[in-house]
Amino acid sequence: MHTTDDADALRARAQAMEPNEAQQRVEWLVPELLRHSRLYHTEGKPEIEDRAYDLLYRELEILEERFPELTRVDSPTQMVGDAPVAALQPFRHRTPMLSLANSLTESELADFDARVQKLLARGGEPVSYCVEPKLDGLAMELVYEQGVLIGAGTRGDGETGEDVTHNVRTIRDIPATLVGPHQPSRVSVRGEILFFSDGFAKMNAQRVAAGERPFENPRNSAAGTLRALDPGVVAARPLRFIAYALGECDGVDLPDTHHEQLAQLAAWGLPTNPNNRVVLGLDGALEAIRALGAERRSLPYEIDGAVVKVDSIADQLDLGFVTRSPRWATAFKYPPERVVTELIGVEFSVGRTGAVTPVAHLKPVRVGGVTVSHATLHNADELVRLDLRYGDRVAIERSGDVIPKVVHVVADEEHANRVAVTYPTTCPACGGPIAREVDVAATRCGNQFGCPAQVRGAIRFFGARTAMDIDGLGEKIVDQLVEKALVTRLSDLYVLDVPALCTLERMGEKSAQNLVAGIAQSKARPLDRVLVGLGIPQVGEATARDLARHFGTIDALLAADEAALSAVDGVGPIVATAARTFFVDAGHLEEIARLRSLGVAFTPVAAPSAAGALAGKTFVLTGTFPTLKREDAKRRIEAAGGKVAGSVSKKTHYVVAGEDAGSKLEKAKELDVPVLDEAALLALLEGM
Ligand code: IVH
Repeated sequence: MHTTDDADALRARAQAMEPNEAQQRVEWLVPELLRHSRLYHTEGKPEIEDRAYDLLYRELEILEERFPELTRVDSPTQMVGDAPVAALQPFRHRTPMLSLANSLTESELADFDARVQKLLARGGEPVSYCVEPKLDGLAMELVYEQGVLIGAGTRGDGETGEDVTHNVRTIRDIPATLVGPHQPSRVSVRGEILFFSDGFAKMNAQRVAAGERPFENPRNSAAGTLRALDPGVVAARPLRFIAYALGECDGVDLPDTHHEQLAQLAAWGLPTNPNNRVVLGLDGALEAIRALGAERRSLPYEIDGAVVKVDSIADQLDLGFVTRSPRWATAFKYPPERVVTELIGVEFSVGRTGAVTPVAHLKPVRVGGVTVSHATLHNADELVRLDLRYGDRVAIERSGDVIPKVVHVVADEEHANRVAVTYPTTCPACGGPIAREVDVAATRCGNQFGCPAQVRGAIRFFGARTAMDIDGLGEKIVDQLVEKALVTRLSDLYVLDVPALCTLERMGEKSAQNLVAGIAQSKARPLDRVLVGLGIPQVGEATARDLARHFGTIDALLAADEAALSAVDGVGPIVATAARTFFVDAGHLEEIARLRSLGVAFTPVAAPSAAGALAGKTFVLTGTFPTLKREDAKRRIEAAGGKVAGSVSKKTHYVVAGEDAGSKLEKAKELDVPVLDEAALLALLEGM
């Protein structure tokens, strides 16, 4: 209901957007989604709920479908998963490990079924599906040769993951050798590594007993555990494995349905899921999904949805793939879980941008496997919408592992007599005035340079990996620096010395020296990273890069008026106004000047040569190339002045196609766009 409304309202809005607005939105959505994907996959520290991510992702898909020219090469819709992290060895998947498209509502599932029906030309005859729990762990590929486990790797970007063979060998569920007849000469098995709830609870109890911090959630700790470099760590934790698919298989004939293939895996000794069901048609799938949803809490592991797969392998092959996922499967995501608890109080917290956000303090309650005592209340409008009063009983929703939200107040007789929650009139951090901004929901503290909460946020943001990447400048240190007024603005970082740092708690001489060195190193960061660090409204990583490439130097950027800013590829009027407003502010100009005088170089960024041989030409890359990685091909085209777009349109000059090129190649043929192979691209580049 409520979640369906969300999804439907969002679709309607995306369907109605004007091109200009859509462009702005895509510019915001792409970096935002990439950031959340990185937080989730690489850092294991998600900031938003899974469903919020899914909704943003869906919005981007709709906009890209309506305006294909807005599809950027770095769009998350063009990638699978995330890039591998360093330290572990790369693990190549011979057949790519794909991810699944989502169905967020029952009507989206009906669309999926209709598409399958149509593509298979079934004439209304129902399709057999296998409905499986969507396990909330992480994807793994196991490779067996001559019946012996020889390798195991994470999914990574789908083509290359991380080699975690050493760790996987310690997992008891995973057989070191296959058993039974009909053994393949080589087989790759895909499945999920996860903690079962009982094992997770037991492990946490042991950790607490040993004085260690308990893990917060099974998925993140499974991911972290597998990445451990020491297999001893893994062996001591009760990880499990459930196989859900075959990658490739040589040397034996396989059954021709998915569920029988899983039975074959089971016969070889691999764990499969007893809760999978084979059903007929959309109705069968819906029934199985609802049943699974109802028994969700009594399953021995956490799930975040159900996977619906076309059961016939021949049909799967007919249906094929799109960029990121197979057309024959979809992940149905259950709406988030809700519980009721009591509102104890409301705290108004002040963020980096001065936004004053209400956070509900709740009587602790279990929801979705964790104990929740805080929930976000977003903004002033939300307080009005909820008609929230101190002591109210409130419904809380949580999905994924981030801050839950208050969905509504549970009406009771006392509600009318309680005291309403209202915004403070002064900033809870600095005591200065706060004001509701015109046309936006945010209420802000205007004391940008004087409010400790804003300064703290700004410094943290400046030092973050995506900005100045200052080694050793952790949150606790920033808090102390601001509290002791050693740092009141960004540039103060560059006057810190070892004696001053040594006055901080738990800061020894050595760490102080390291931090001073880390800060000094950051002076050389390229212009785009400094721009990110300044926290210019509307300017994220991608826009900062566009601006830096276009203007090259900070002086050129400061001199640009709104028209000049709008002329930058990828910058629309909203961003141009925001950037200009920032750069004409005397306080910001003074701060930029001070940063420069203290040695921050705003290192100029070379603009891609407009005079290059490929200037003005737009390329679309598809498939796997024999020698070049896609990123390299992109970089070389851009270095030669060309542009790389994410989807083929009449404006595309060339499509460069490698092995397994899919729909983009078909589209190129349809539109008569010239198609090059890698060799032809290299020749074109060399002809420069
Ligand atoms: S099949 C080509 N089956 O969901 C389809 N995936 O976005 C490959 N997952 O990271 C996936 N339970 O690890 C499949 N029963 C299941 C699954 C499952 C969980 C995960 C998988 C992948 C993600 C797909």
